[in-house]
Amino acid sequence: RAVVAQLLLVVLQLAGSYGAGTTAALPVVINTWAFRKATETAWRVLQLGGSELDAVEKGCGQCEIDQCDGSVGYGGSPDESGETTLDAMIMDGNTMEVGAVADLRRVKNAIGVARKVIEHTKHTLLVGESASLFAVRMGFPYEDLTTPKSLSMYSKWLNQSCQPNYWKNVVPDSSKSCGPYKRLEKVICEKWTISQRNVHNHDTIGMVVIGGNGTVASGTSTNGGVHKIPGRVGDSPIAGAGSYADSTAGGAAATGDGDIMMRFLPSYQAVEYMRMGMDPTVACQKVISRIQKYVPEFFGAVICANTTGSYGAACNKIPGFTQFHFMVYNPLLSQAAEQVVDCI
Ligand SMILES: *[C@@H]1O[C@H](CO)[C@@H](O)[C@H](O)[C@H]1NC(C)=O
Ligand SMILES: *[C@@H]1O[C@H](CO)[C@@H](O)[C@H](O)[C@H]1NC(C)=O
Ligand SMILES: *[C@@H]1O[C@H](CO)[C@@H](O)[C@H](O)[C@H]1NC(C)=O
Repeated sequence: RAVVAQLLLVVLQLAGSYGAGTTAALPVVINTWAFRKATETAWRVLQLGGSELDAVEKGCGQCEIDQCDGSVGYGGSPDESGETTLDAMIMDGNTMEVGAVADLRRVKNAIGVARKVIEHTKHTLLVGESASLFAVRMGFPYEDLTTPKSLSMYSKWLNQSCQPNYWKNVVPDSSKSCGPYKRLEKVICEKWTISQRNVHNHDTIGMVVIGGNGTVASGTSTNGGVHKIPGRVGDSPIAGAGSYADSTAGGAAATGDGDIMMRFLPSYQAVEYMRMGMDPTVACQKVISRIQKYVPEFFGAVICANTTGSYGAACNKIPGFTQFHFMVYNPLLSQAAEQVVDCI
């Protein structure tokens, strides 16, 4: 009997370590893409006694410093005028407070400014040059976000007749030439083709942190789509779209084609599914399949975690994007672990 029990224990332990990726434990840090340093930074903040909000702020802030994949932070995704602008949000799932900035210019630490919107204003979202003035008043340095890399991306784009771009129904023909454009009198309803997009141009960091007592916080940070029309704001700074946190249900964050995804509030929807008791992976899959019904070829992924520390992710399968990588850290893992999910 003792031998059998021992064997059983070994088998259970093996199963446990093999299935560690899906084993729930608190606290948990989960973030989009293989942005490992962001996960490690958030985890360290928790270990040092910081709050879940602190962990999200510093974790996403790490990506702003590291310019993760060139699509978070300064020096990436120049818009049509060559400028890098930032979008970020942070959400407190205990109080349901949200702080966000969009089209932030000349300030690097976008999620830090978003946190100040919660702490020092009664507002939720500040935008553009006015958000920059607010940031400066809050003590953030005002600096150029342009780098040699973003400048060269911009000049290359100008040299290739401003392709790709986000215009339609304009003259001159935006699929062949640069602007300035004027509107076409006759608006043609055309289907948006996938060839215009590059799946590597939308690698937003989205993070969910759930503390030991089930407190949920979430956040995002991005420099948006490359060659976007100035003034464009994506899903990332929008509560319920880029991320959502509710300590009575869970947290979720999205990445991908923000112009499409923000129409479906995928993070809000995923949290609502988890509130209904749905498994986090299934909740993530359900929001992806809902968008799929309207836009089969959209590029996007969602991460989900519930208040007992179960987590999951889902992505939409398109050519060139069949698997989604994300990061997880919880007490059952000896280090930040990269996980992969097959797209549906
Ligand atoms: C959980 O901890 C946070 C601090 O991280 C605190 O603000 C919150 O009130 C606690 N919630 C409960 C239910 O104890
Ligand atoms: C601009 O594009 C042409 C080809 O269309 C190429 O020969 C030239 O090197 C490019 N210049 C720069 C600065 O990229
Ligand atoms: C979280 O998800 C797991 C796995 O589906 C489930 O067993 C658990 O009950 C969920 N927690 C809550 C609070 O719903």
